[in-house]
Amino acid sequence: MDQFEALIKEIYTSVREDSFAKLTLSKPSEVGAKIKKVIIRMIMIKEKRHFSFVSRYSTKDITKNFNVEDGTDKIIQMMQSDYEIANLFTNEQHIAAERLEDGSFKLKRMEQSTDVKNSRSHDKEKQSLLSRQDYLKALGILNKKGHIQKDKGDKYKQINKFVEIIDGILRKNKALDGIDPLRIVDMGSGKGYLTFALYDYLKNTKSKNISLKGIEMRLDLVELCTKIAKEAEFDQLSFEQGTIQEMALDKIDALIALHACDTATDDAIYKGIKANASLIICSPCCHKQVRRSMKTSGTIASITQFGILMERQAELVTDTIRALLLQKHGYKSNVFEFISTEHTGKNIMITAIKDDGVVDTTKIQKEIDDLKALFGVEEHYLETLLA
Ligand SMILES: C[S@@+](CC[C@H](N)C(=O)[O-])C[C@H]1O[C@@H](n2cnc3c(N)ncnc32)[C@H](O)[C@@H]1O
Repeated sequence: MDQFEALIKEIYTSVREDSFAKLTLSKPSEVGAKIKKVIIRMIMIKEKRHFSFVSRYSTKDITKNFNVEDGTDKIIQMMQSDYEIANLFTNEQHIAAERLEDGSFKLKRMEQSTDVKNSRSHDKEKQSLLSRQDYLKALGILNKKGHIQKDKGDKYKQINKFVEIIDGILRKNKALDGIDPLRIVDMGSGKGYLTFALYDYLKNTKSKNISLKGIEMRLDLVELCTKIAKEAEFDQLSFEQGTIQEMALDKIDALIALHACDTATDDAIYKGIKANASLIICSPCCHKQVRRSMKTSGTIASITQFGILMERQAELVTDTIRALLLQKHGYKSNVFEFISTEHTGKNIMITAIKDDGVVDTTKIQKEIDDLKALFGVEEHYLETLLA
């Protein structure tokens, strides 16, 4: 067996035994080649192992995923003709290979370094549903090497958790099946962390035809996100300056509003209901409106005499009524903890999926009225909007 065959055999074995950590291909054969380096890792897509190829250009990274068979063919072809150096890292060893002028290979076997082992486990931990890293780097979440920036760990977790939630919703519900293109609006998109990730997941990981628009009132953020979307060649992702309240919505299939302040969440839910969106997802921020409107008495007043508990009660009442109003308007709603409080205080998520079932609106309205009476809530802004 020549050295090249020995190398291929090591790749096959590491894949079979699930000890493949990373393969890097460098030193392009062609002078002036645009792709300087290719980094290949193993990822899971739909519970199947795939090779994820990150092609490193001088200004950007492009990721493409292949099933194991196609990926292996591509690796062989690239090692034989496109790159002169290959470094295979498995859990047990590091093999450095060099293609010589006569086309033969020289291999050097070394013990695995801790560094790569660590990066593999780190990689496994974040075996995320995202396909690309370039926009995460542009947004300052990852550094140039693709590692999470020091103060961005929580945001990175939040992004991945959000995409996992969307993935779970799409798997369990047929609400968005077959819609082509899928039109999504992100209300109060801010710096676009979750907007970009959602686009990457739906477009690149799930291969869906989508059109995603972020609505944001701050022009600087709209300009920043537009620039990053252009650089990433996310053609169906756009950002528009405007307020949630004034935004005219045509047909939309899904609406998200993550951490939109106070009643901006209500405005977003209202727009989603009016646009007959099949899916509405929001993660409320502060809850000032209901708090100001609460005039408690009796036993409830014992609780709300304490500022922080008043705040918590207002939060519970606001979000419960939001979830009930969504039910009243034909949605199956759910409220859960989005991400642990250890990572963010804004951790409640409300999801609502359009449902064709019969709704007992009188019963739901009574629940709302009873809640309002118990907590002395004079007005819930979303209810006013929908009235
Ligand atoms: C806390 S940030 C959240 C950003 C992003 N959704 C996220 O979760 O990372 C809230 C964003 O919503 C924007 N925003 C708040 N109220 C808005 C409104 N009424 N119309 C449009 N944008 C709004 C703010 O400018 C801000 O960028």
